Amino acid sequence: MVQLGQFPPARHVIAHISDTHFLGGGRELYGTVDTDPPLVHALELLGRSNLPIEALVFTGDLADLAEPDAYARLRSIVEPAAAKIGAEIVWVMGNHDERPAYSQGLFGHETTEPQDRVEMIGGLRIISLDSTVPGYHHGALLDSQLDWLRDVLAEPAADGTLLALHHPPLPSPVEIMAILELQNMQRLADVVRGTDVRGILAGHLHHAMSGMFAGIPVSVAAATCYTIDASAPVGSLLGVDGAQSINLVHVYDDQILHSVVPVNETRPVSGFPDSVLDRLGQLSFEERIEAFSSKTSTFNLAEVESSGAPEVDHTLE
Ligand SMILES: [Fe+2]
Ligand SMILES: [Fe+2]
Repeated sequence: MVQLGQFPPARHVIAHISDTHFLGGGRELYGTVDTDPPLVHALELLGRSNLPIEALVFTGDLADLAEPDAYARLRSIVEPAAAKIGAEIVWVMGNHDERPAYSQGLFGHETTEPQDRVEMIGGLRIISLDSTVPGYHHGALLDSQLDWLRDVLAEPAADGTLLALHHPPLPSPVEIMAILELQNMQRLADVVRGTDVRGILAGHLHHAMSGMFAGIPVSVAAATCYTIDASAPVGSLLGVDGAQSINLVHVYDDQILHSVVPVNETRPVSGFPDSVLDRLGQLSFEERIEAFSSKTSTFNLAEVESSGAPEVDHTLE
């Protein structure tokens, strides 16, 4: 593969998926949202992409009421897709999950202990941190969890660490969600600051969001089930059936990208197949600039001519 720009390929590619909220028996969420098709579609998109995805990270609220059947159905959908993609699965606890059902349903061992785990993806470490409080929807971390995390982070990983937890250590633009935020964030900041944690992946808010925590970028993935409209009138909480998405995470040596991928049905309107890239790869740098960047190239003139006629085949002259 020819390097077309200034950056070599990402060292790791990960899919970040959140808040599937499956119910037992295939019941619809709120009696109206079928939670399965958007997730199935998301996994189909990841498979179709042919990206070298090494892990699927699910940042919590996997099952809406922690029913065993919901976890079983989730596994029956995710595991075959992950095997086909060649990706590991990293599960993270959310406030709608319950530790006994989560640990039994996903790991075959029922326990009430916090569900904290470490997964190595080559040189990249992914830490799944359980930010839930039994019986409540807000988040918190026990002293014992913070001690464990400090111990794990004492030894850096070759490609650094991604910390995955359900409750984002950030303010919430939707005011009422502040009641359900991660408490005592400062104590987590004291543990992660200055370590090899390069990114924090979270969910819980049901809308895509990014921020900084203790000098570390935080990326919140929206939900696959339903989303929360961050532009709803102040003081209200508005869940909507639309704009569901997942994130692709590209990990470079000194940079991490988070790309939002909608998982609703979409209508293709433009583009070209991978054969075009193959042909561009055979050209010299200067030829590629002329062929693809110049506004007067035959290729770009074809683009202009095809405006309004998306079926036109874009062939590189
Ligand atoms: Fe959720
Ligand atoms: Fe949540």
